[in-house]
Amino acid sequence: MNYCSVKLVIWMTAVIFKTHTQAAVVVIYGQVGTSVILPREKWGGNKVNIHWTIQMKGEYQNVYARTFGRPPTAGEFIKDRVSLDQNGYSLVIKNLIPNDFTTFKCELTDNNNNKVESVYKLYSISVTASPSIILASQTLSLGCDAQRSTVSTQIEWRAPQGKEVEGPSFSAQGPKLTVTNVTAQHHGTWKCTVTYDNRKAEATISVTVVDLSAPSQPLYTFLGSTSPLLLPCSLHSRIDNSQARPKGGHWSFTPFRGDATPGELTGPEKFLSLSQGPLLYWETPQGQKVNGSALEKDHYNFSTVRTAEKGGGVYTCALDFQVNTSKVTLRRTVRVEALRVVSSQENPVLEGQALNLTCTLGHSSLNKLTVKWTAPRLSSVNPLSSPPHSPILSIPRVTEKDRGQWKCQLMEGDKTLVTAQLNLKTERVPVDVWLVVSICGAAVVLILVLVLVFICVQRYRQQRMFVRRRRNIKFCQCKHPQVKGFYKS
Ligand SMILES: *[C@@H]1O[C@H](CO)[C@@H](O)[C@H](O)[C@H]1NC(C)=O
Ligand SMILES: *[C@@H]1O[C@H](CO)[C@@H](O)[C@H](O)[C@H]1NC(C)=O
Ligand SMILES: *[C@@H]1O[C@H](CO)[C@@H](O)[C@H](O)[C@H]1NC(C)=O
Ligand SMILES: *[C@@H]1O[C@H](CO)[C@@H](O)[C@H](O)[C@H]1NC(C)=O
Ligand SMILES: *[C@@H]1O[C@H](CO)[C@@H](O)[C@H](O)[C@H]1NC(C)=O
Repeated sequence: MNYCSVKLVIWMTAVIFKTHTQAAVVVIYGQVGTSVILPREKWGGNKVNIHWTIQMKGEYQNVYARTFGRPPTAGEFIKDRVSLDQNGYSLVIKNLIPNDFTTFKCELTDNNNNKVESVYKLYSISVTASPSIILASQTLSLGCDAQRSTVSTQIEWRAPQGKEVEGPSFSAQGPKLTVTNVTAQHHGTWKCTVTYDNRKAEATISVTVVDLSAPSQPLYTFLGSTSPLLLPCSLHSRIDNSQARPKGGHWSFTPFRGDATPGELTGPEKFLSLSQGPLLYWETPQGQKVNGSALEKDHYNFSTVRTAEKGGGVYTCALDFQVNTSKVTLRRTVRVEALRVVSSQENPVLEGQALNLTCTLGHSSLNKLTVKWTAPRLSSVNPLSSPPHSPILSIPRVTEKDRGQWKCQLMEGDKTLVTAQLNLKTERVPVDVWLVVSICGAAVVLILVLVLVFICVQRYRQQRMFVRRRRNIKFCQCKHPQVKGFYKS
């Protein structure tokens, strides 16, 4: 019994002593190039000497010493990077270097020569990104390696702008994070937070993603418009890296089916190519330099300007990039929609006819967009009901008052996207028709007259015959034989 309790006491003392000395070593994590604070609480009165040291080559060397009544001294090798924290005790080390990842000691002595000592051990976190410059659509591998210590560590990743790493493109495995199909939103600073011993340490790495800015909304114009449209295409940010310079590229146009002029090609038509020389600029398919494009000033702005007179279609900006051996062609498309007012009758329209005016984008439906019509002031269709209107406006009987500008606004909610107009002209039923009618009338009258004349002639003849017969009868009464002869001849 006695022996047992003695043994237990010794064991417990050993445990307590051991845990005491272990707890005294404070574990601190940091990343090369960043700052850390070795925390030390206030102690003693206000006449305390502070002495921070670092273990180098087996011995402790002065880092920072503040002896009461004397100016502080700092180790020559570290003096530019160390200071005391606001509380006057903790040590701040800036711009960590690999040699800093060792043991530090803080000794405090008060004016009664009481002493306390605390020991710190600095461990490193290293973050890697491979590759660190990456093309959109490729796969990024990140690693966050916290050096092994006596405490357990937990790792958490944050994407640029503090976004959580959630979704199908992320897969984490221990300290490794894989991001597939990277895009512009993965460009920037990735953060790895190491949680340990009720503390947190942050380590970061910067990743450059070469990508084009987000796809643009469709552009709206009206058929025949000669005002130029800005077709946007640029890198999502200015990237100061020669690898972010395209090796080739072009702009092409594919008209919408309904909008292509019959007989013209309907496939994509390249209308600009990127120059191949040391200077970046756009050139025409004939090799002529295009002056005044945004590319001349900003080597990341590949926007161009076009007029969409011929109607709508899809413009494509395609740029070929190469980083190390991987090649990727990045594309952005810009849809251009052309609004128009289509008349069911040829303009000018004959008065008295029924007419439909249709406000249309040609090839595609209006989807969620609505239409607002404005008729000429005097038109018979006025007043129109309140908008939105039907895209087809029916005029049951066109009159002269319907002449003028018919305006159709394409609306997205309350916003007008574009306005198309039709200048309607009307015509009386043309003079030629009257001419035809009068000629026909005259012909009819002539025929009638002829018929009448014929009838009269017939009548006259018959009458004459009748008179002759009567005369013959007279001859017969005279019993003249000549009558028979007359009939024979
Ligand atoms: C490019 O290749 C070199 C050597 O093969 C490598 O060190 C570098 O990390 C690569 N860069 C990228 C961005 O992959
Ligand atoms: C990659 O991301 C882009 C943009 O988020 C998406 O349009 C594309 O479908 C994705 N590709 C793959 C293979 O997931
Ligand atoms: C662009 O400018 C150059 C000289 O500055 C000129 O030779 C060339 O003809 C111009 N190109 C066009 C398409 O105007
Ligand atoms: C690109 O250049 C055009 C002028 O050609 C300008 O309007 C546009 O804002 C520029 N885009 C960017 C992203 O700088
Ligand atoms: C006008 O459109 C309506 C359908 O909205 C159709 O029934 C009618 O036949 C059309 N009229 C003309 C003249 O095209």
